[in-house]
Amino acid sequence: MSLNAEKFREDFPIFKRKINNRPLAFLDSASTSQKPQQVIDAIKDYYEQHNANPHRSIYTLCDEATQIYEKAREKVAKFINAKSDKEIIFVRNTNEAMNILAYSYAMENLKEGDEILLTIMEHHANIVPWQMLQKRGVKLKFVDINDDGTLNLNQLNEMITKNTKIVSVTHKSNVLGTVNNVKEIGRIAHDNESIFIVDGAQAVPNMPVDVKDLDCDFLAFSGHKMLGPMNIGVLYGKSDILEKMEPFMRGSDMIKEVQLTETVWNDLPWKFEAGTPNVEGAVGLSAAIDYLSKVGLSEIQKHEEELSVYAMEKLNEIKGFKPVFNGTLKNGVISFNMVGTHSHDVAYILDEFAVAIRSGHMCCQPLMRRLGMQSIARASFYLYNTKEEIDTLAEGLEKVNQVFKV
Ligand SMILES: Cc1ncc(COP(=O)(O)O)c(C=O)c1O
Repeated sequence: MSLNAEKFREDFPIFKRKINNRPLAFLDSASTSQKPQQVIDAIKDYYEQHNANPHRSIYTLCDEATQIYEKAREKVAKFINAKSDKEIIFVRNTNEAMNILAYSYAMENLKEGDEILLTIMEHHANIVPWQMLQKRGVKLKFVDINDDGTLNLNQLNEMITKNTKIVSVTHKSNVLGTVNNVKEIGRIAHDNESIFIVDGAQAVPNMPVDVKDLDCDFLAFSGHKMLGPMNIGVLYGKSDILEKMEPFMRGSDMIKEVQLTETVWNDLPWKFEAGTPNVEGAVGLSAAIDYLSKVGLSEIQKHEEELSVYAMEKLNEIKGFKPVFNGTLKNGVISFNMVGTHSHDVAYILDEFAVAIRSGHMCCQPLMRRLGMQSIARASFYLYNTKEEIDTLAEGLEKVNQVFKV
């Protein structure tokens, strides 16, 4: 293996835990990742040494909290190669970022007859917020997938029209593992003068993502999927577009001046961050970025690919194992069914082996319908996963077959 996962595991306290007297095989990082001691310590240190409400006063702790919060923003900007930290808005998660775009961009700019182009492989976070636009006569259109689980780019080219004002696409599918050619999709969107949004929830944790290279107008991602804490995420946006947008949440800290009946908004990025911010989240995310950068995103991506190849060889030998798509690159995400067994039963039996996988509709019900499935099981890999864990997964799936007499 190109990456020494065993060494990294030592940094994650949760792997000292036993479940059912077995070492934890956590194969659900596409849902949320585990956290290294470095992230936990950074948050602890913040509360023990620096806690105050940033941007509010000039005493030492307040100044430190402000510096720490804004340094975390700079770190994020550098991580995704944004032009400036003004383009980094801290949010709770990808869902919240998409809601900001739906309310503050789409509701303000789109009118009857306009179209939003999405894909059938989107997570609910990149479908549901856009649906409210239909009330004003905006049409949602969905590009299909090919038979191998890749996006049908020919269809995307055909479906985009002069009315398409927004193209919003996932960089990497949480079900298929498909990595979309977002650079090419962005080119198509911009040639059409559409705004181009990337859902980076699955890509940013697992591969190098460079917003200048992709030339996306917006990118959304979640800290908890990339070794950071829950409730901190990022909305990146090009500053010229963000400048023209109205804020989503209104109240304190996002203002320059308040009169009784009107308000002047604060500068970027604070215009979009109402109320006391999640400093501990930003601190944790910053420590997570340090950790990921030290390991190397390309190395992590390679490791996940190697594990995927190993897993497919191993699992394809098991009777009744049916991957959602066979033969295509899995990129660290293996979605499958066991013949004659519901995915929740699969996950339940695997738990006996301390193997944690996701089961259900994966927050992708339209994709599930397109695949003719109601529910699937998904094993997903990260930098701390090993081949031995995949062997345990295989052992558990054999037990599934025994229990359900396949
Ligand atoms: C592709 C994709 N988009 C969006 C999300 C939503 O992320 P969050 O729940 O952190 O908002 C997920 C989470 O699984 C995802 O996989």
